[in-house]
Amino acid sequence: MCSSLQLDLWKPLQPEDINVRSVVHVRIPSMALQPVKEAMLHCSLSFKVLVDNLAHLIGDPEAKRSRMRRSLSDYDYTKYHPMEDIYSWINLMTEQHSDLVTQHNLGLTYETRPMHYLKISKPSSGPKKSIWMDCGIHAREWIAPAFCQWFVKEIVQNHEKDSRIKKILKNIDLYVLPVLNIDGYIYTWTTERLWRKSRSKHENGTCYGVDLNRNFNVKWCSLGSSTNCTSNLYCGESPVSEPETKAVVNFMETIKSELICFLTIHSYSQYILTAYGYSKDLPKNFNETITVASKAASELKKKHGTVYRVGSFANLLYEASGTSQDWVHDLGVQFSYTIELRDNGTYHFILPEDQIQPTCEETMAGVLTIIEYVNDKY
Ligand code: ARG
Ligand code: ZN
Repeated sequence: MCSSLQLDLWKPLQPEDINVRSVVHVRIPSMALQPVKEAMLHCSLSFKVLVDNLAHLIGDPEAKRSRMRRSLSDYDYTKYHPMEDIYSWINLMTEQHSDLVTQHNLGLTYETRPMHYLKISKPSSGPKKSIWMDCGIHAREWIAPAFCQWFVKEIVQNHEKDSRIKKILKNIDLYVLPVLNIDGYIYTWTTERLWRKSRSKHENGTCYGVDLNRNFNVKWCSLGSSTNCTSNLYCGESPVSEPETKAVVNFMETIKSELICFLTIHSYSQYILTAYGYSKDLPKNFNETITVASKAASELKKKHGTVYRVGSFANLLYEASGTSQDWVHDLGVQFSYTIELRDNGTYHFILPEDQIQPTCEETMAGVLTIIEYVNDKY
């Protein structure tokens, strides 16, 4: 049915990964509703309508204008922002907090847009460690870039009064890439809200986009990936074929000797995931990595009661090769996490704006727990 009726599988992402007695999330075009219902009833499969009109939830394209005002003080962190706003936000942030925040260019996207990342750093006499966080490698996961911006705001606003943040910045430089897949993110604003991949062109323009989180050079394109460029899990023509992936890889290689923690932010599922995605085997030191994740999940839960599960990527989500988390882990960074934010299957990728603030507040608590742990350890 997925191919003949053009169903859009959300969980798992490909039909091959559907297991007996597991829950499946699927978006069904209205045209296909009747045949799908009939087929399910025929096979005695139970189902529940999670969202009955997705177009309604996505809303009016007219409403998706810039929400940018000219100053940082009235930037609305409880709304989603188009890329042009995020670029302006990056500029304002570095202009108004130049003592703490600087912007740098990681590289260019396929459509030649600059990938600006922020470095949050306090002057120090001694050597420092580094932590990396990127958001928005998957275009439709809008809550992720919203969190990266929230994170920077919190650090900048509280670095003088909050002793926890003070302590962190004494020993650590934070690197934040608010939107990794910029071309894809823009495409979700202009054309297709549920686009996942980048926007590179393949097979003479018959298909577009690579799943950037399948393009890293780690067991590339062997599990949970596709060589078909129309697939949402297309791994690209070769490992690190995409400019966005290349840009991340080059920078990680540059900072790897001081890099102690790598965080890549996604949605949805409410998971804190560790290596590996490419195998159900567990890495050495898995126990420690998971203990830290569990502590983060329990701090996170204290904010609004949201429950997160922790475990390895392959065991909790699905098997996938070529992910950034695994590549960085195998580069030698033990604390390499994929964090899947809210929700847990009600709104999926279309998390309502009234959940941005609570999601960011709780995620902040979780992420700070991880950062404090690695700071104490190294
Ligand atoms: N962000 C996830 C990914 O990287 C998708 C999560 C939703 N899908 C799911 N199977 N729960 O693919
Ligand atoms: Zn994702």
